Amino acid sequence: MERTHSCNALRAADCGKTVTLCGWVKRRRTLGNLIFVDIRDREGITQIVFDPASCEAAHDAARDIRSEYVISVTGTVRSRGDQVNKDLPTGEIEVLASSLKIFNSAETPPFHLDNEDPTDDLRLRYRYLDLRRAHLQKALGLRHKVALAVRNRLDSLGFWEIETPVLSKSTPEGARDYLVPSRVHHGKFYALPQSPQLLKQLLMVAGMDKYFQITRCFRDEDLRAERQPEFTQIDLEMSFAEKEDVFAVGEAIMKTAFETAGYSIETPFPHMTWQDAMDGYGSDKPDLRFGVVIQDVTKAVAASEFAPFAAALEKGGSVRCINVKGGASFPRRKLDEFSEIAKKEKVKGIFWAKYEEDGRKSPIKGLGDGEWAALEKQMGAEKGDCLIMTADASIPACKALGMVRLAVGQELKLVPENTFAFTWITDFPLFQFSEEENRWVSEHHPFTSPNALDIDILEKDPGHVRSNSYDLVINGYEVGSGSVRIHDPQLQDRIFRLLQLKPEQIEDRFGFFINALKYGAPPHAGVAFGLDRLTMLLTGRNNIRDVIAFPKTLKATDLMSEAPSTVSPEQLDELAIAVTRTEEEENQE
Ligand code: AMO
Repeated sequence: MERTHSCNALRAADCGKTVTLCGWVKRRRTLGNLIFVDIRDREGITQIVFDPASCEAAHDAARDIRSEYVISVTGTVRSRGDQVNKDLPTGEIEVLASSLKIFNSAETPPFHLDNEDPTDDLRLRYRYLDLRRAHLQKALGLRHKVALAVRNRLDSLGFWEIETPVLSKSTPEGARDYLVPSRVHHGKFYALPQSPQLLKQLLMVAGMDKYFQITRCFRDEDLRAERQPEFTQIDLEMSFAEKEDVFAVGEAIMKTAFETAGYSIETPFPHMTWQDAMDGYGSDKPDLRFGVVIQDVTKAVAASEFAPFAAALEKGGSVRCINVKGGASFPRRKLDEFSEIAKKEKVKGIFWAKYEEDGRKSPIKGLGDGEWAALEKQMGAEKGDCLIMTADASIPACKALGMVRLAVGQELKLVPENTFAFTWITDFPLFQFSEEENRWVSEHHPFTSPNALDIDILEKDPGHVRSNSYDLVINGYEVGSGSVRIHDPQLQDRIFRLLQLKPEQIEDRFGFFINALKYGAPPHAGVAFGLDRLTMLLTGRNNIRDVIAFPKTLKATDLMSEAPSTVSPEQLDELAIAVTRTEEEENQE
């Protein structure tokens, strides 16, 4: 085909040229005896004019075209004079058509492609039409460029991209596995990788030194705006490396990705311990684009007779507080909303104290003058401020206030647009106690090494063992996560025992891996970044669906192809699988 330019290429300097453009009809208008058509491709839009005085045949053919027809137009570029369209990069010119070819007609689309808000169902069912919209085309273009630039950067740093299998064995990342039945070995299943964790560590044992892979991971878990059942990681692992080495590579990747999207960022990134993040922001993924830091005001109110405070302190809890500048103007209704947000984190609600503009203090009545003064001093409270507090066990008190902090940030528009706040969160606890399973479980995964200073207390006090793991948090999203790994088989064994994994379980699930550690495993560390979340941030969207070509719904279905779907009895029989109950039957029960 003789396409000469994209629909975003022509400028005033091209006037007089004969060009051929191909694309989709975005819009057709008739003005007197002229027909105007906006032609669109993934790069942009150009205006075409069909004038019978210039070419009657093309003008006649143009009468038939409708939105989304696929056409090719040849013509001459000319200036739009004073009719410039400032919203379009091609707005100074138009193409006067001398011929038109219609490749294909199109039915009327089920939603208007210029309308930002068709329903989610429609968008996903007709994703190939949704993807014609400019913001999605731009997002996929940027995603491609970011992945390419990151790949090249990692190559320049000495990393090799090595593919690991998709049909493999379960990896312990904490979600459920997607299973694939074996036709050859009835009753046996592959698991799709939740991440290439074990395999990348084995590549270190194998002497590959520096590995990376831009790879698909699969997790059967509850979905949210920043979670899909299949997603892409920029996954890497390095031998003879400490966490600082991983940070330097991670920062190089981020610099490359952000530069590709037109942003220049400062490195190195700041660090914050998990404890400081929880205490100051009530979250292990704090949004640091704005302040409003949580403070522990337990001491200031320790003598208080205010019943909820006294009750929390008696149980060993604490009182946490944020000072919201300008918050005195919050109506009661807004504060009630904040209280509901806090309750979702299993605290009883919030307590608030306003410093009204007229100097009144309201309302916590049980606080004595001394306590008010101490609070005022610690929190730097002034007229117009609102102190918001929670009183409970420390973690829920902080988490609840952390959620309120985010709501306050939105309400008062404290979050600046187009800024990025990066931080490495370090020193996570190695274990978390699972009430459900009544045992310690890994906070990250069982191959994460403990902080050398805490190895002595591993068995004695597992709850206080810090790990050598780290997350990269950007604007309140966990974009990456990794750790320094255990390379000593004895220590790995100790951790497994602490997690109460039985020897048969260990052998069955990770026997091959533990065995490999015995054959000369180098010290190694790594990290994986979520390419979808990263691109979501770079494109300013707040759902990773907007940077994935064919995403799934929150119920993990693909509305377009209607996957998952039933398969034929023959297929099931070949796999020796019997379906014991179907979704429809369950819905009827
Ligand atoms: P983790 O499980 O924290 O670590 O995942 C690393 C990063 O992958 C992204 N991510 C997701 N993105 C979209 N949808 C999901 N369901 C989803 N789950 C995770 C996040 C996250 O930070 N093997 C370890 C890494 C390591 O230790 O090297 C791992 O997978 O951005």
